Amino acid sequence: MLDRQGSRGSPSYSRIQVEPSSGALGAEISSVKLASLDDESFEEIHRAWLEHQVLFFRDQRLDPADLSAFAERFGALDTYPFIAPLPGHPYVIPIIKEKDTRMNFGGGWHSDMSYQEKPVRATCLYAIEVPERGGDTLFANMTAAYDALSDGMKQLLDGLRGVFTATKVHGATGLYKDADHPMEMTKNPDREEARHLHPIVRTHPETGRKALYLDLPHVERFENMHIRESQPLMEFLYQHATQPQFTTRFSWQPGSLAIWDNRCVQHYALNDYPGQRREMNRVTVQGDVPF
Ligand code: SIN
Repeated sequence: MLDRQGSRGSPSYSRIQVEPSSGALGAEISSVKLASLDDESFEEIHRAWLEHQVLFFRDQRLDPADLSAFAERFGALDTYPFIAPLPGHPYVIPIIKEKDTRMNFGGGWHSDMSYQEKPVRATCLYAIEVPERGGDTLFANMTAAYDALSDGMKQLLDGLRGVFTATKVHGATGLYKDADHPMEMTKNPDREEARHLHPIVRTHPETGRKALYLDLPHVERFENMHIRESQPLMEFLYQHATQPQFTTRFSWQPGSLAIWDNRCVQHYALNDYPGQRREMNRVTVQGDVPF
């Protein structure tokens, strides 16, 4: 099993430098150019990613094709159902907040595209323009959140499945209904309304570790339960999982890139930069059916 402890200055990395960014998760990687990555460096990046769950890189120059090529090293790319991609780059979506945009894409703790039958494995986000201050992204470690639960709660969650859906966010009356951001939204009613059952505690297919898998924006209720019956436990798990001790925070600069593991990480885009512009490009990597 992978162990985060002792990774600082670990001799197991010879091509990259790995600097953990908090006690909970995340590491900043240096000494690497993602646009021209050799296989040995990628192997170390992949290993560091499994160990730290989200990796941060600075000062990268990546056009949309470079960004896709880097993300594709983690697996086949996925398309995003609700925002039109960049012309000529079917897997890259822009995430833009103009100076006067109010709506904030990703402004709530969530795991990307968990409403799919096969939720995405990785998300790669690249900063093009960022506010002078603000616009950070928070990340939370769902493995640590699971480990911190009592044995009784773990038993209660064992076998429990959630009804995952995009409808609360992207449906006809969803959160993004009146979105005023400049991205071109694509209507996809089948995908908006689809529901898939996923375990609330999932096992990471590569590390074997268990993680809480519940994000409020994308879970309607627990299987075989009413919404009203599900809500108190969902609220508790959400509050529990996003406590500060399970989190880290990344401050973007132009040329920064983050890649996170949606199987064990939730994230939250902060909306604390009114009057300033932020522009990112995002690519996602296909995942498996959670178990
Ligand atoms: C997202 O939720 O994918 C967007 C995160 C961000 O813009 O910081």
